[in-house]
Amino acid sequence: MKAYLAILLVFFLAVNCKKKDFEEEECTTTEKSYEPTIVQPNIPQGFPQMAIPQDNPLTIEGIELGRHLFYEKKLSGNNTMSCGSCHAPSLGFSDSARFSVGIDNIAGTRQAMPIMNLGWKLNFFWDGRSATLEDQAFLPVVDEIEMHENWPNAVSKLQSDPIYPDMFRKAFGTDVIDSVLVVKAIAQFERTLISGNSKYDRVLRREEGFTPQEANGFSLFSSLTGGDCFHCHGGILTTDHSIQNNGLDATLTDLGLGAVTGLSSDNGKFKVPSLRNLVFTAPYMHDGRFNTLDEVIDFYSTGVHGSSPNISPNMEFASQGGVNLTPGEKADLKAFLLTLTDSSFITNPDFQDPN
Ligand code: HEC
Ligand code: HEC
Repeated sequence: MKAYLAILLVFFLAVNCKKKDFEEEECTTTEKSYEPTIVQPNIPQGFPQMAIPQDNPLTIEGIELGRHLFYEKKLSGNNTMSCGSCHAPSLGFSDSARFSVGIDNIAGTRQAMPIMNLGWKLNFFWDGRSATLEDQAFLPVVDEIEMHENWPNAVSKLQSDPIYPDMFRKAFGTDVIDSVLVVKAIAQFERTLISGNSKYDRVLRREEGFTPQEANGFSLFSSLTGGDCFHCHGGILTTDHSIQNNGLDATLTDLGLGAVTGLSSDNGKFKVPSLRNLVFTAPYMHDGRFNTLDEVIDFYSTGVHGSSPNISPNMEFASQGGVNLTPGEKADLKAFLLTLTDSSFITNPDFQDPN
């Protein structure tokens, strides 16, 4: 009851209405108002709709705050590392190191994933262990081999920063910062990191055409008797979002999904990644084992381990070591993969470090 009265009181203090000569009322609020501008994500033609969580709509103010936080080094224990340190725009929002190194100079065991078209993903990390972008963003900050900070500290650094309290108020209506609002803002920014302007997209939109080599590469990509890539990397997002074993190893070192579920039938399964912007995101695979696309294509051609535990039934030619492409076919497939490059995505000024 007391709280209720207090809220009423604040309301009366904050709103001051003058009756004008005619019937309209003119009100001025003495409190600075909270009016975030709701926006829709910029969905490229041919892409599916993006599901935005009801409790975290995209707003201009939230996205801008999220951009600042994505590049904010105060979120790390010694103020030297931000999300953008391992997810750098020039590298397709990923890392060129095989294993990303955190603030204490300790390397992790997996390759940093590109932050791109995440609004369509069903789960996050190579093993899909995080269900939402909001949940995911809690983890790197406290990860001991990544940013190695604790949330109360991170929040108090933001609270005493000259810009953040006001930015949080504009985005969320309060200048009392907490970790939930931090991850909401970061997730809003991440949902805007949409890449859909590659040559492949322009060809689908009939604005441009493939070269004969790219066209042949695309048919190899899309046919069972060619490269057979479309089974898992098909569609406009170049992933079916499943978690599968593509046969990298006969003996598993990283159990992937199996380590999350505890089921041996999940051992060796990793998320099917997007193939967009590969030219920026080397090295490849969950452990960054391949430095070049040629190595990746050689693997699918003749390096597949048919005996790998739980290998996907969609690796149709695993028992023959792979799809056995000729040198010409490999070059064509690579030419097609390079049409998935979207340079306008990595240079988009809205996505860069604001500082
Ligand atoms: C030290 C390097 C490092 C830092 C700093 C870092 N990340 Fe990552 N990020 C990674 C690695 C490595 C992975 C893959 C880890 C795995 O799958 O186990 C990853 C995965 C992700 C994913 C999953 C993407 C997908 O497609 O599933 C998201 C989202 C992400 N990071 C966001 C962030 C955010 C937000 C921050 C800052 C709060 C951040 N990262 C800080 C290295 C880093
Ligand atoms: C059975 C499903 C499946 C098929 C078929 C398949 N892939 Fe993959 N692909 C995956 C999975 C799963 C990964 C991640 C594996 C890992 O890191 O453990 C992957 C990873 C990749 C990567 C690395 C991307 C990155 O960001 O690291 C490239 C490139 C790639 N695949 C290209 C292809 C090409 C080209 C073909 C056809 C010749 C193909 N894939 C066929 C499931 C598949």
